[in-house]
Order: sequence, then structure tokens, then C-alpha cells
Amino acid sequence: LSSFDAIARELRAVDRTISRAVDADEEALSSIAEHLVGSGGKRVRPALVLLTYLAANGRKIRSVVPAAAAVEVLHTATLIHDDISDKAEMRRGRRSAHVSFGVARSLIAADYMMTAAFGLVGQYGIEAIRTVNMACMDMAIGEIQDLRHTADADTTEEQYFEIIDRKTGALMEAGVKMGAMLAGAPRRHIDKFAAYGRSVGVAFQVVDDTLDVSSKAAKLGKPVGKDIREGKVTLPVIFALGALKGKERKELRDIVGALHGTPRPGQVKRALALVRKTGAEKHCRAVATTYTARAKAALKGVPSTDSLRALKGFADELVERKV
Ligand code: IPE
Ligand code: IPE
Ligand code: MG
Ligand code: MG
Ligand code: MG
Repeated sequence: LSSFDAIARELRAVDRTISRAVDADEEALSSIAEHLVGSGGKRVRPALVLLTYLAANGRKIRSVVPAAAAVEVLHTATLIHDDISDKAEMRRGRRSAHVSFGVARSLIAADYMMTAAFGLVGQYGIEAIRTVNMACMDMAIGEIQDLRHTADADTTEEQYFEIIDRKTGALMEAGVKMGAMLAGAPRRHIDKFAAYGRSVGVAFQVVDDTLDVSSKAAKLGKPVGKDIREGKVTLPVIFALGALKGKERKELRDIVGALHGTPRPGQVKRALALVRKTGAEKHCRAVATTYTARAKAALKGVPSTDSLRALKGFADELVERKV
């Protein structure tokens, strides 16, 4: 992503801060953390923190590196939890933590990372802590709602958006909000940045869910069709269920509704074919674009600078992504 060029040095500093923050005297904890941190990840959230700080006219970018690192550490911890919830076996091109290290150790490591993240945020004071802590609670609620709707073929679009707003929008909002706060932006601008972050998060999740059905290469670091296998009723599936008729609709409902347990590979393939033939990818990409348009519109009234334009451009890059 070309937006990363402007903040390449800081992103390297973020990675160093992350490694230090998740280091532990206990080998089991540090190796689980390093297993994830060291296997890549797009670093979208720390980039958002840094780019927002610049867009809000912040002058000491080094000072936000710990905040950017904290958001990535939190995100990484939630991925460990998420893979346990979703029974997902691959993450960032490797075996998921719970597969390699066991569920119990992975849960403790994720909690350790959450706490480490709050350790980093603490230096910025109570408002930053509250911002991040509310996002964490929102994410937990979103993930529980996600579980509740697993294999629920009647999940509505409204329910879907409520879930992704919480599980993904909340943390992006918090990161962006911290970036703006730490830059010393006025209150009315902080709220605009926060709204930008939330909508970008929703758009990002819609694209993630779309790539699950549309991506051809296994560049994702997670298998294509994994959401269908997990019984996730995502936007492309909801759209397809609305577009298909008769027998085909029932077929897709039965597969995602997991009437017969986890779908077999052949059923996942069939479901993918059914979803694709409805043009769900095109529809969902367009939906994602409406959310980035909303994100950019939220910034109206913030003085336009090159950095603000870069932040808006970043939203576009995120929905155009293929991985
Ligand atoms: C995965 O997030 C979970 C979602 C919110 C879709 P990312 O796609 O940002 O995962 P990494 O950090 O790049 O691995
Ligand atoms: C995002 O949901 C998870 C969190 C926000 C914690 P997904 O379940 O779609 O993420 P992936 O696809 O496993 O990366
Ligand atoms: Mg998952
Ligand atoms: Mg999930
Ligand atoms: Mg996904």
C-alpha cells in the first residue's frame, strides 16, 4: 500500500515497540506472541494511527509510535481469540496459535498481549485509556454477536452491519481517535476523525468478507471460502441468498446454515460458485465504497493538507485491495 511510504520509518519503530512490549520472561508467552507478530500482518491499524496524527497536524510523530503499537498488539490478541472462536486453523500464512500451542496457552498469551497494550496506552493518560477500553468492550460484544449468528442463514444485513461495526469498526475508530487526540486536534475535529475511523473499519471488514469469496490466490494467508466453512453469514452470502431463487437458494442456505455440520470441501466450493454467480463481489465492493465515501465525508471541515489527502487516499487503497 503506497500510503505506507510516508510512514515507513515509523512503522519499523512500531514493530520494534511491539516486540519489546510482548516480550515475556516466560518463553511460552513470548513465543506465541512472536509467532503472530513475526508472521506479517498488514499493519493497517498502526498506519491509520500514524497517518491520522499527521493529518491532524501532529508534529512529533515518534511520540505516537507506542499508541500505534498498542493498537496493533490489541488487534493481534483479538486474532488469537477470533481463531479460537472461529475454529480457524490458518492465520497470516501460518498455523493459528491455538493449533500450534494449544487453546489454553493461546488464551493466556492473548490476555497477556491485551494487558501489554494497555501498558503502552497508559502513558497517554486517562482519555486514551478510556478510548481503547471502550473499543475492546465493543469488540467483545461484536465477536459474541458474530458467534450467535454463526450458521444463522436468516442473519439480516442490519445485524451483519451491527456486528462488523463493533468487531472491526470500534478498534479502527479508537486508533484514529487517539492519533487525532495526541496531535492536539480540537474536539470537533477529533469527532470527525473518529467517524472516519469507524466507517473505514466497516468498509475494511466488508472487503475482508468479499475477498473470502472472490479472491483466487491464497495470498490472504487464510484459505478462500473459510467464512463459508465456518458458517459465517457475511455480506456476500446475504446478498446471494437474496438474489438466488428456489433450489439454489435452498442449497446455499443449507450449506451456510450447516444443517449437516461443518460443510465438506465440495460443499464450500459449491457455495462459493453460487455466491459468485450472483455478482456478490461487485455489489459488496460497491457497498464498501459507500462506506469509504462516508469516511471521507466525515472529515469535511478539517483543514485540507497533503496529509489529510493522504489519509483519505488510504481509505481508497483499503477498499481497492486484493489481499
Ligand atoms: C483481520 O484483520 C481481521 C479483520 C478485521 C478482517 P487484518 O486483515 O488487518 O489482518 P492482518 O493484521 O493484516 O493479519
Ligand atoms: C474479524 O473477523 C475479527 C476481529 C475483528 C477480531 P474475521 O473472523 O472475519 O477475521 P478473519 O477473517 O478470521 O481474519
Ligand atoms: Mg475469523
Ligand atoms: Mg471471526
Ligand atoms: Mg474474514
